[in-house]
Amino acid sequence: MTNNQSSLPLSTNIFWVGVNDNELYLFEGLWDIPEGVSYNSYIVKGSEKTALIDSVHQRKAQEHFQKISQVTDISKIDYLIINHMEPDHTSAIPEFLKLAPNAKVIYTPIAQSIFKKFYKIDPPAILTRGDDMAISLGDKTLRFIQTPWLHWPETMSTYLPEDKTLFCCDAFGAFNKLPEDAILESDIDMNKQDVCACSRKYFASVFNGQKEWVTKAIDKIDKLGIEINVLAPSHGPVFNRTAKEMLSTWADWSKGSYKKTVVVVYGSMYGMTAQCLNAITKGVTEAGGKIQSFNLSEAKAVDALTALVEAPALIIGSSTYEHEVFPKVADFVNLLRVKKYSDRCVSVLVL
Ligand code: FEO
Repeated sequence: MTNNQSSLPLSTNIFWVGVNDNELYLFEGLWDIPEGVSYNSYIVKGSEKTALIDSVHQRKAQEHFQKISQVTDISKIDYLIINHMEPDHTSAIPEFLKLAPNAKVIYTPIAQSIFKKFYKIDPPAILTRGDDMAISLGDKTLRFIQTPWLHWPETMSTYLPEDKTLFCCDAFGAFNKLPEDAILESDIDMNKQDVCACSRKYFASVFNGQKEWVTKAIDKIDKLGIEINVLAPSHGPVFNRTAKEMLSTWADWSKGSYKKTVVVVYGSMYGMTAQCLNAITKGVTEAGGKIQSFNLSEAKAVDALTALVEAPALIIGSSTYEHEVFPKVADFVNLLRVKKYSDRCVSVLVL
């Protein structure tokens, strides 16, 4: 039995009905993810009503629907909760709504506007505003918390108080496909999977540009007094043992609680720039500093950004190419700007 075939229980009457995607090599068309990614989706069955929380990429729709059918009658689903509109979680929805004609869509007004533009349909909806709206499924409740820019402006999170579970969509997620037969961190060999490293890479590429909003969301959760025992994101494992630690780790990444590490990133045509950067690396190492070095002709930019999440200092080296900065270095510097890696001590050498 594998994830490709089966839904998985999270807790009583809560089921993972997501999918693994091993065929996508560039997340958002940009970030190398050779180990794949999961799109998580959840069925919550109350004593009276049933809800689907988020969906999956259209390419995986049939597998997703098959898993939903293992735990409930898809045609009788009452609510579809859309926490976030990016197509990795919504492009299967037009097809889903044909199979679940009675499902009312619950999302934010901005999400509704985006949905109509993306998919040219306007299904019956309940729009969420503020942080107090909730619906009852009978013995389970779904409360909607506005968490904008996690990861787009329309984003919200869904809290299930009876199970102290936060369905946070993109936030607190991780790259890499899920192992077979496991969604809960308590069922996964976290060291083998190195989930924290997968989450840091995901934060580095997807979330660093929104880190101030991560801080705001975590502060809001604290202020609302929401107790979270389980974090159920839309990518990666469900954190049922270390939910509070993951929140704290993401808070650190967002606020810039750095380790004493220097990241060196360079582009070198014939090895002379590399020689210069290697001399600097040797000096820093001999002085007791820790260095992580990336030659952009070989290394992936995303791996350098991932190292930078926990590093306060960056040294950039570039050979001159046609009177310009070496193109791979120029691309990397542009990524630093786009993803807002602005609060570092930076030295630049152009040779
Ligand atoms: Fe996983 Fe912002 O989509």
